[in-house]
Amino acid sequence: MIGIYEFIDDKRWGREHSPSDIEWFIKGVTSGEFPDYQVAAWLMAVCLNGMTDKETTALTLAMEHSGDVFSPCLDKFCVDKHSTGGVGDKVTLFAAPVCASCGVYVPKMSGRGLGFTGGTIDKLEAIPGFRTSLAYDEFISVIKSAGFAITGQTGSLCPADKKLYALRNATATVESIPLICSSIMSKKLATGADGIVLDVKVGDGAFMKDEQSAERLASAMLRTAELAGKKASALLTDMNKPLGRNVGNALEVIEAVEALKGNAEEDFSEVAYALTAEMLSLAGKGSPEECMAMAHEAVSSGKALESFRKMIGLQGGDIRVIEDYSLFAQPKYKRAVYADKTGYIGGISCEKTGLASLKLGAGRKDKSSDIDMSAGIIFTARVGDRVNKGDELAVLYTSTDCDIDGIAREFADNFTICENQVKNRKNVIKVLRNC
Ligand code: URA
Repeated sequence: MIGIYEFIDDKRWGREHSPSDIEWFIKGVTSGEFPDYQVAAWLMAVCLNGMTDKETTALTLAMEHSGDVFSPCLDKFCVDKHSTGGVGDKVTLFAAPVCASCGVYVPKMSGRGLGFTGGTIDKLEAIPGFRTSLAYDEFISVIKSAGFAITGQTGSLCPADKKLYALRNATATVESIPLICSSIMSKKLATGADGIVLDVKVGDGAFMKDEQSAERLASAMLRTAELAGKKASALLTDMNKPLGRNVGNALEVIEAVEALKGNAEEDFSEVAYALTAEMLSLAGKGSPEECMAMAHEAVSSGKALESFRKMIGLQGGDIRVIEDYSLFAQPKYKRAVYADKTGYIGGISCEKTGLASLKLGAGRKDKSSDIDMSAGIIFTARVGDRVNKGDELAVLYTSTDCDIDGIAREFADNFTICENQVKNRKNVIKVLRNC
């Protein structure tokens, strides 16, 4: 029988672990048998030497079974969606009600945000009264009635991932493809959906900075899903600029509601409809093109907005927010940011936008920090727009006691203003499927 020292030594020298050794290791991580320094040493060895597909799948399955594994047993196809995390990413709030209104169930167990990428659960908590910790029976009953439900991940979902993720965060070992793949896929598999659509973000505001690494991560996740018997697709989408106009919790819910009313920003619309159509297609509703038309019809007919309203009401939220945005927490302070020269907006730094929104109070600096639901940013100018010196570029909002003037001064540097118009990047870069 292998011991923890030999297990670490194997990975240090790049030897392949057997599935049974990986299962034994994850059991020990979950029960707290191994000290953090040994688990952290193994994580670093994985970061440096990688893992084979067989090891990554064994790790994912062992992590999936480290806690509760759900199986919704519903009468319709259940599809889940996951984003690797981006700035201004409110796609789930759009895609889930659209799919639900087209007859596909979306059982969504979401995480909270940490750092500058907000979590769906935090965004929904901007709705007064909204409950994000549903008991499993209630979760299923909301799905049956509204077609989708969104609840927080409980402590019993993949406890091994919680331990490993905390250590990865503290030891510079987050950005490793087998570790990201097993962390995401173990939680997706444990949720029990029949199909999974992955939004793999690429760019300065994402884990994966270039297309090649994003494709490697996407392929690893698709292979793992296939070996676990699940249909899956992955879309590589651009995260070199914030998605849509609004960043921040209440502001993002408002932008998603506007999109459900048919008023989506062009970049958000392209990404959100592509992911939604992929979810519908995976559920057998037709070709991606037919499903795209179906998603547009669900929005123009108002069916998707109705699903969203129903879910909010069932989860205790105030449904009046859909018509009256003043019911969201209102910011105490606001500052506009102006262009310091004339030209075309060539870029908006995603990473700096995320950091500014964190300083305004919209994100969580550590696990225990509170979030200011009213805080965030609305972009008045977007990439490709022509601006004159002195024109407004963005407005910053907060109710938090922060240096809003200093944040606003620095924020102007997030915009690259060029003499000539730059070609806009593609928002949906590539689609990969395992079926
Ligand atoms: N999201 C996760 O859940 N895990 C990772 O490792 C990275 C992103």
